[in-house]
Amino acid sequence: MARTFFVGGNFKLNGTKSSIKEIVERLNNAKLDPKVEVVLCPPAPYLDYTVSLVKKSQVSVGAQNAYLKASGAFTGENSVDQIKDVGAKWVILGHSERRQYFREDDQLIAEKTAFALSQGVGVILCIGETLDQKKAGTTLQVVERKLQDVIDKVKDWSNVVIAYEPVWAIGTGLAATPEDAQEIHHSIREFLAKKLGEKTAQETRILYGGSANGKNAVTFKDKPDVDGFLVGGASLKPEFVDIINSRS
Ligand code: 13P
Repeated sequence: MARTFFVGGNFKLNGTKSSIKEIVERLNNAKLDPKVEVVLCPPAPYLDYTVSLVKKSQVSVGAQNAYLKASGAFTGENSVDQIKDVGAKWVILGHSERRQYFREDDQLIAEKTAFALSQGVGVILCIGETLDQKKAGTTLQVVERKLQDVIDKVKDWSNVVIAYEPVWAIGTGLAATPEDAQEIHHSIREFLAKKLGEKTAQETRILYGGSANGKNAVTFKDKPDVDGFLVGGASLKPEFVDIINSRS
């Protein structure tokens, strides 16, 4: 089964109306590989605006966070119902920056994932090891533990995309090698097969994230378990188009 290549743009806490307009219009006007699914994740205040600008059916919009309740007295949180209401379809959960700066733990992320999925919002679920964990040789244990907490709560993975994002590669300019990414993605898929069955493992997309850019994206081209990218910095730049088109 061919998995649809998926490229997410995580704008993080960047952008203005004018810069976001420029990014979306560039995609509207570019020749994009029609076989690629693209998801733009602007800061929450710009979700509605971003949805209004997108002109291509292969491009959709996602949030960068969502809480585990749809509404109520939760000052400062994002609601999956409101994300849906403005026409966004995805949410990034488990990003290492949420884990590091906002103290989100595996349990909370699993609960938020289960809730978003139950409301029909797709989840880009981020997992990855720190440099210390990599040096200690525990990468697989770390990513499997993060996945296991979600597996305990979520049985239907059809609306989940996994993003393997080694923490040491994020924003450093030091991407994982395509060979290392392939090896880890393959192990993640084997883990999914063991826990959720071969069908789910074959159908679930596993993205690579961490210093992906317009030059290195193409070097992952022949890696069968790399089903796309989650892109930070480069998603704000013209080279994002090259990443989207890196398989064609
Ligand atoms: P960079 O592409 O800027 O390294 O960020 C990756 C990332 O964190 C995407 O979620």
